[in-house]
Amino acid sequence: MFKDLREWLDEVEKLGELKRVSGAHWDGEMGPLTQLVHEKYHGSAPALLFDDIPGYPAGYRTLYGHFSTLNRIAVTLGLPLEYGSKLEFIENYRRKMEAQELIPPVAVKDGPVLENVHTGNDLDVLEFPVPRHHELDTARYIGTASAVITRDPDTGWYNLGTYRSQVYDGQTVGCQITEGKHGRIHRDKYFERGQPMKVAIVVGVDPLLYLASASPVADGVSEYDFVGGIRGEPVGVIEGPYTGFPIPANAEIVLEGEMVPGESRVEGPFGEWMGYYGVPPVPRPFVRVKAVMHRDSPILTCAPQHRPVDETVLLKTVTGSAAIWGDLRRAGIPEVRGVWQHEAGLGVRFTVISVRQRYPGHARQVLHVASSVQSGAYNGKWTVVVDDDIDPTDIDQVLWAMCTRFDPVEDVDIIRKAWSSGRDPMVLPGTGNFNNRILVDATVPYNRKLKGDFPPVVGVSPELTRDLYRKWAGVVL
Ligand SMILES: Cc1cc2nc3c(=O)[nH]c(=O)nc-3n(C[C@H](O)[C@H](O)[C@H](O)COP(=O)(O)O)c2cc1C
Repeated sequence: MFKDLREWLDEVEKLGELKRVSGAHWDGEMGPLTQLVHEKYHGSAPALLFDDIPGYPAGYRTLYGHFSTLNRIAVTLGLPLEYGSKLEFIENYRRKMEAQELIPPVAVKDGPVLENVHTGNDLDVLEFPVPRHHELDTARYIGTASAVITRDPDTGWYNLGTYRSQVYDGQTVGCQITEGKHGRIHRDKYFERGQPMKVAIVVGVDPLLYLASASPVADGVSEYDFVGGIRGEPVGVIEGPYTGFPIPANAEIVLEGEMVPGESRVEGPFGEWMGYYGVPPVPRPFVRVKAVMHRDSPILTCAPQHRPVDETVLLKTVTGSAAIWGDLRRAGIPEVRGVWQHEAGLGVRFTVISVRQRYPGHARQVLHVASSVQSGAYNGKWTVVVDDDIDPTDIDQVLWAMCTRFDPVEDVDIIRKAWSSGRDPMVLPGTGNFNNRILVDATVPYNRKLKGDFPPVVGVSPELTRDLYRKWAGVVL
């Protein structure tokens, strides 16, 4: 497997999925260009490597769109590039996640991240071409595709999470961590004791570490150990000069600093992952930067997110679908044939599960469990169950099932006051971060399936399909 971001870029270029762009501006060009490319190439957009950014030395680059294709997710995780269907891809991913062991990081004396180390007045985070990502943002954001390292003050485990960082000035950045995220729990523990919290923000990061930081990894398990397990060898780490934290030796850019209880600055506005400016600017704790390290000709990794389909949603689709599928299995529900969280549903808001119905209530049970297990509970909106002749990844087939096997009175359940977030423009007013959910049973009613009185589908049987392909290859292929 690739060892760092540069080797990953080589792999991606070999796949023909890297586009180099010269001369785009950091101020409102690179982010919107990425959005246009993703809206145009839905599911097949290339990664964009920007260079020759006005006002910055050639070679000081930014990278957008790590995970916009299944191929690039496969390369990142060492999964097969050949797969029969999207569901097979999810199965491969789920198996890999469930089989892997944890391998802790290993300390090394030196690494490319130490090629340049700045501290004190010698330090300026705007030495990098930090973008203003969206048109209505008023600040530049250095941390979007990042890994923020924090240490649990009780147990000492290191968490890595992707949390955004606004730039206030050359030595001050934000760090927006939502309630319940591991970095936030760490911060709350320090602040409750009146203590500052040290952080290391990796903003030029190995894509595998970024993937792990942006995905749910169990409480108390370090993303370092998780990534070591996937790669089959430990992550090499140097000791951070300010924090003393383990820092990836091959990182591109790292900011070290501290957050101090009682100190806050207004954070935002920033275009958010639901496709809106969901949360108004509010005061939030920030980071006083004490040290900056970077490789020569560093690459700043970016993922600003926007209205779907954006550059991060496929990753949420893959990790979320696999997690719900795994949880349904662990809950003992038989015959689940596939799960897909559609990209236009932001990876969490439109979840489709296909099942081979075996007993009355089976489909309804799938709906309720999938919407309530930990992997499916956060920020959902639509959960749909379909029969096993429907490919849950194919929105046309799903809509057909919803239009022909569903009754609006009999086949809808509602979950009220579920776990949502302030980013949701339809969050229930005055209730905190709750929303309501709709569960849609678009399967053939089980009693009619038993009686065999549901009309047969106008289709082509597998046997006839095989024969026709053989005989009429020139017509159908
Ligand atoms: C591109 C991207 C940006 C994100 N930005 C934030 C953010 O600013 N704040 C936040 O709390 N979560 C953000 N997230 C979600 C978290 O990274 C994600 O929930 C992750 O699992 C958190 O790690 P943790 O469970 O170790 O806290 C972002 C995710 C992605 C993919």
